Formats: sequence, structure tokens, C-alpha cells
Amino acid sequence: MKVAVLGAAGGIGQALSLLLKTQLPAGTDLALFDIAPVTPGVAVDLSHIPTAVNVKGYGQDGLATALQGADIVLIPAGVPRKPGMDRSDLFNMNAGIIKNLVEACADNCPKACIAIITNPVNTTVAIAAEVLKKKGVYDKSKLFGVTTLDVIRAETFVAELKGLNPENVHVPVIGGHSGTTILPLLSQVEGIKFSDDEVKQLTHRIQNAGTEVVEAKAGGGSATLSMGQAAARFCLSLAKAMQGEAVTEYAYVEGDGADAQFFAQAVRLGTNGVVEILPYGTLSEFEAKAKADMLASLKGDIQTGIEFANQ
Ligand code: NAI
Repeated sequence: MKVAVLGAAGGIGQALSLLLKTQLPAGTDLALFDIAPVTPGVAVDLSHIPTAVNVKGYGQDGLATALQGADIVLIPAGVPRKPGMDRSDLFNMNAGIIKNLVEACADNCPKACIAIITNPVNTTVAIAAEVLKKKGVYDKSKLFGVTTLDVIRAETFVAELKGLNPENVHVPVIGGHSGTTILPLLSQVEGIKFSDDEVKQLTHRIQNAGTEVVEAKAGGGSATLSMGQAAARFCLSLAKAMQGEAVTEYAYVEGDGADAQFFAQAVRLGTNGVVEILPYGTLSEFEAKAKADMLASLKGDIQTGIEFANQ
């Protein structure tokens, strides 16, 4: 198996690559691409960790080689938020980066599963889909927006509030990946009851958790370490599924369009990406209203991506 990380020298890229070097199955090739000159050095650094994962670094002109033969491509390339910025403020910088990188995926590894981390995810995934369609290689079961961070944050915050071990808490998070489009389904957390106030406060904290980090880093970027962990978890699940294990993860994917063309929900993964998109069940009154209120915004984000890719 071959995994490629595009944007591998960045905050997320380095944390993610470290986790992959130590956790991917033996024999996996790990290709690290970034335009930053330090990239070959990041690969040499990681190569001294004694695991049977083969790391190689690729700079500026190595994108095609990094992608050839890849089964999974993870993309955290692009600019992160600074205090006062919304994820949509990143569109001007990151839309073009995603377009170019996904074109290269289409040319060099058209059958790979592509997982997009670069924000605004609500929009960059729509751009990626349009680019792949233009190249005639779009397979909706192989394109993902990574929303795992919303899930792990929700689990952490619920565990913190209720004094539980976060490893035993499971919180479905559906919708999109920004502001109110992030919709945690607290009514479905097994064995835990929340008051109305707790639901409001937790939902707000989960939706604004990214901003919590951006503000705490005071201009030094956004979540990189927790995002590295989230992306590694998602990649390892994809890798397990490719090797025949039944795995379920939450991700922002193209489904039946009942809510929006792209929507985050639980997906059952298999050897070729998404096998089944699982229904999210019955929503509480609070969740149903929150979903109804955010759909126009999510659809607008998607439309922005479609228009950008087709301009
Ligand atoms: P960073 O600035 O630390 O790293 C970004 C890296 O991308 C840099 O090394 C840069 O050289 C590289 N890069 C830029 N253009 C490139 C190109 N054309 N090809 C290859 N590499 C390129 O940023 P960080 O903190 O790693 O964040 C990356 C992205 O991930 C941001 O857009 C951020 O908003 C997003 N993000 C997404 C989250 C999610 O839950 N999906 C959570 C946190 C961040």
C-alpha cells in the first residue's frame, strides 16, 4: 500500500506523517510532498524511526512521482486560519491549491481514495469533485472531506463534562465542517442524558472548537496536533478497510443529496472506499431545527466550490 501526504511539511502534515510512520502497516510506502524546501529533511528525520514504513520526501517538482501508485492521498496543503478569520476566508488562497493538487491526483493516481483536510472543507471537497469529473475519473465513494476532528472534539468535550473516559464516548457529528454546519447529535450518545442547557453549550463549543485553538495560538495557526491525530485515525481506518476489515468513520461525502450534495455522516468503508452511507436516525427537535437552519449555508459553500472549479 502507498499513502501520499500533500502539504507534509506543515503543522498538520508533520504531525500526521509522524503518526503514520509509527502506525501504518509494515511494508507501506509513505510519500511526503510539500513545496516547502524542508520536505526532504522531514522525510529523512522520520526515516530514522525504526518501523517498516518506507518514507520518501518530494519537493517542488516531485508531485507526480509522489502520487504514482498511491492508494490513499491525504491533503492538508494550504493556509490555516488566524484569529478573526472564518474558514471561508481561506477560500481565495486554498481553492487554487486544491484544484492543482487534485488535478495531479487525477493524472497520477486516478483510483486513489482522496481525503481533503484543507479548509474550507465544505467548499474544497466540491472543488475536488468537479476537478475529478472534468478529468473523467470521479468516483464519489473515493472522495472524502475529513471531519474526524469534529468527532474527536465532541467525544473529548462530552467526556470532560460528564467525567467519563473519552475512549468510551461516541458522538455522531453530521453536516459540514464549519460553524453551525457542524452538527453533533448529542441525543444519540448512548447512556448519557444532557439538559437543554448542556446541549446548547456543548453544541456551541463543538462548533467553535477550531476557533478556541486559533485564539489560543494567537496568530500561530490553527489545530495541527489534534488534526494530525484525527487525520491519522481516518487514514488508518481507510487502510484497514482496504485490507478487508469492516470499519465505520464519519466523513463529508457525496451521498443521495437528501440534505445537501455533500454531507458528513457515518460511512461504512471497504476495499474501494465508501460501501454504504449510514442513515443518521431520528434527530431531536433541537437538532432538526439546527440542521434546517444551516442547510442553506452548507449548500452555498458547495455552490461556491462548483462555480470556482467551472469558471
Ligand atoms: P501550515 O501552514 O502549517 O501547513 C500547510 C503546508 O502546506 C505548508 O507546509 C505549505 O508549504 C504547504 N503547501 C502550500 N501550498 C502547497 C501546495 N500547492 N502543494 C503542497 N503543499 C503546499 O498549515 P496547517 O496548520 O498544517 O493547516 C493546513 C490546512 O488544514 C489549512 O487549510 C487548515 O485550515 C486546515 N485544517 C483543517 C482541519 C479539518 O478539520 N479539516 C483542522 C485544522 C486545519
